[in-house]
Amino acid sequence: MNKKIKNILRKKNKSKVICLTAYSKNVASILDKHCDLVLVGDSLGSVLYNYKSTKEVSLDIMINHSKSVRMGVKKSLMVVDMPYKTYRNSKEALKNSKLLMKKTKCDAVKLEGGKRIISIVKTLVKNKIPVMGHLGILPQTEKKFTFKGKKINEVNKLLKDSKLLEKAGVFSIVLECVETKLAKKITRHLKIPTIGIGSSAFCDGQVLVIDDLIGLSKSKLRFVKKYSNVSQIINSAVKNYNSDV
Ligand code: KIV
Repeated sequence: MNKKIKNILRKKNKSKVICLTAYSKNVASILDKHCDLVLVGDSLGSVLYNYKSTKEVSLDIMINHSKSVRMGVKKSLMVVDMPYKTYRNSKEALKNSKLLMKKTKCDAVKLEGGKRIISIVKTLVKNKIPVMGHLGILPQTEKKFTFKGKKINEVNKLLKDSKLLEKAGVFSIVLECVETKLAKKITRHLKIPTIGIGSSAFCDGQVLVIDDLIGLSKSKLRFVKKYSNVSQIINSAVKNYNSDV
């Protein structure tokens, strides 16, 4: 097993797994010093391209950004999102994930879904492609962007899905906007680390979109703490440049 994945697994119940998204080399090389995992998320569709949803993100876009990120990531585990409609069945998933791994030299891929993708995950794992899972809000297919785990049927489904994914061989699962109580329960029940985004501090690690964290995007998500105001910093630098010229 990849040494970096082993390190992430070892953190379970010991220390938190630190993850952030990156879409290009310069930012990635900064994150690499402080993160265990850098994710080239298909959130780049809305963050960089103003797409209405991640459905519009293509494999080529993911490959290009991942190649750039690869140049900046040396120490951390680099994971790349498989875009919408690139893993509808095992054959398609294997072909596209192999291409992604070959072209970008990433360490692992991330797929959204539970029971529906179990045989796909098994095929990738069998073919030595490390897979990260993603449950809760699934942006590629979601109809309602609301927190998951309020209703009993959601609780049961997410618990079951998380166990199925673990059994299928994923090394970690992102929990996106899962209610605190459920995120805590899933985390306790799994041997692999859960990585939360808007899913409470009880997860084994956290992930956020870098542009939100540094105040470069206009996002106003209530679970995102802004650690900087990079928009303002760039604005004043460019204003000073303007007056100097
Ligand atoms: O696309 C993405 O950036 C993600 C994270 C927010 C988990 O999937």
